[in-house]
Amino acid sequence: MIKYRLIAFLAVLLQLHCPTLGQPYPNYHADFVGIGEHGGDLKWWQTAAFYQIYPRSFKDSNGDGVGDLNGIAEQLPYLKELGITATWLSPIFTSPMADFGYDIANFTEIAPIFGTMADFEHLMEVAKKLDIKIILDFVPNHSSDECEWFRRSAARDPEFKDFYVWHPGRMENGNRHPPSNWISVFRGSAWQWHEGRQEFYLHQFVKKQPDLNYRNPKVRETMSNVLRFWLSKGVSGFRIDAVPHVFEIAPDNQNQYRDEPRNDWDNDPEDYGYLQHIYTKDQPETIDLVYSWRAVLDAFQKEHGGEDRILMAETYSPIDIVMQYYGNATAEGAQLPFNFLLISELSNSSNAHAYEGTVLKWLQHMPKGRTANWVLGNHDQPRVGSRLGRDRVDMLNMLTATLPGASVTYQGEELGMTNVWISWKDTVDPSACNTNPSIYEQYSRDPERTPFQWTNAQDAGFSNASKTWLPIAVDYKEVNVELERQKPLSHLNVFKQLWQLRKQSQTLQRGETEVKALSDAVLAVKRYLERDSTYLTLLNIYDGVETINLLQSFPDLPPQLKVVVVTERSQVKVGDLVNSTSLQLQPKDSLVLQTTSSYYSYATNGEARFLPVLGVYLWLAQVGLYLSNR
Ligand code: GLC
Repeated sequence: MIKYRLIAFLAVLLQLHCPTLGQPYPNYHADFVGIGEHGGDLKWWQTAAFYQIYPRSFKDSNGDGVGDLNGIAEQLPYLKELGITATWLSPIFTSPMADFGYDIANFTEIAPIFGTMADFEHLMEVAKKLDIKIILDFVPNHSSDECEWFRRSAARDPEFKDFYVWHPGRMENGNRHPPSNWISVFRGSAWQWHEGRQEFYLHQFVKKQPDLNYRNPKVRETMSNVLRFWLSKGVSGFRIDAVPHVFEIAPDNQNQYRDEPRNDWDNDPEDYGYLQHIYTKDQPETIDLVYSWRAVLDAFQKEHGGEDRILMAETYSPIDIVMQYYGNATAEGAQLPFNFLLISELSNSSNAHAYEGTVLKWLQHMPKGRTANWVLGNHDQPRVGSRLGRDRVDMLNMLTATLPGASVTYQGEELGMTNVWISWKDTVDPSACNTNPSIYEQYSRDPERTPFQWTNAQDAGFSNASKTWLPIAVDYKEVNVELERQKPLSHLNVFKQLWQLRKQSQTLQRGETEVKALSDAVLAVKRYLERDSTYLTLLNIYDGVETINLLQSFPDLPPQLKVVVVTERSQVKVGDLVNSTSLQLQPKDSLVLQTTSSYYSYATNGEARFLPVLGVYLWLAQVGLYLSNR
């Protein structure tokens, strides 16, 4: 009998220690693949907290009313304090500033208004010490008309003659017209007559931003060299500007450009929306061009070693096209094509189902093995607090910090900075200046570009100039870093707690994801990982008090959950235990909860998979006992 008992006991032990014999733990959400297994190699950018700095408005160190590189270097510890791991700087290169730096006159020189190359090198050193990666803005579609390449092109210098998109125009009844009906993003014809060259040149943005001609291999090589130049200065990658515009259709065999068809919903012939941009946007060659830039980065890494250099692509395009920027079976593309869905698909009146659909849209379209990213705002979009509600700032930061992948925060949105009204007189954005006083507000990006609010001192601590380049927000005495540091549940402190949590949690970094609207008002995001805690982010989007039974939607949750992040609106505190069957959310409240019970950690831990097999072995052991007793 002892012999049989021993055999049965050993069999059970063997099973418990040999996972390969067990049933695989049921993956009940096979659609969403987690970023990586426990202990697997996660690249720095896959879980990064990116922060966009708009240098003109971040910190002015020399009192001229415009932010600069030394200002950024001085305040980089603030980014560290927030939990930021990488920062993308809008253009810092020599420029006449017709589009505030997106019109570059010299791609490898620092604009004097921002500082010197030595200042940039100093910034790189500070960033290295703090372990914050620096990403630069790469603006490939156009240069400034004050760029030497353009001057030489206009003068038909053989080296540069075809560097831009030139055309003699269409002759009709002896009159010269622009080559096509194409319209600039910033209004009016996209073609500008050049007296010197006696030809039109294309500019998809303002006329001081002539489009480079990517059908010329010399242009491609020159721009790849721009990437190499900054890579050798130690940057960790690039945000690529205005990607969908880089190529336009080639002229036909009579050297003519085709007109674009109309959109009937827009009756303003000067407005960009007047036409369907089928020949000037999203041309298939653009995708391959981005792949070729990725190859430049990878070759650099191969040669020089170090961590991944990355591309983030600005692509306001249909989702199927955006996804192609990730790469395909044979070529790698941008690690992070920007996900603008939270900007383009949600409004102040969106309900939880709309939020769910928006988040799932990205996750479901994303090719397997790629990394998601979540952009809440940038210097071209109304601030998140103005777009989706001042009282939703915390919940949106909570959402992006607990969704899988990287997130991108635009400076000031961690504080709850909102759009600032700017008069026509003070308006400087070319997109608005090209309109008129009655419609400029629809086009202006100045409201989201005002100086950063550091303190309640003069100029919000941004500068000590008598006049800053854009006015300071009127609310700076209530919304600033100094004050928010002191309030335990300020937007700033909630943001910090979220990124601290994210840094510590393997589940949030690499776990799987389930997104569900529990009602019109409540959105839930569940993150889970074998052998680790499960997290639940809950957003009450509306103004009612909501009572929810989490077990209805997530039956495998334990009866109680621990509160780990709250906002000013919450009635529960960090550390409280809440009941899964009746949980109350205050108006516009949001929470992050975590599983704690020993039962639950056992049930989600890898060993649970062996329970059915354990049952079979115990049964065998009983048979053994029975036989031994006979
Ligand atoms: C991008 C930039 C925007 C700029 C435009 C032209 O969309 O984000 O600020 O005006 O490209 O470079």
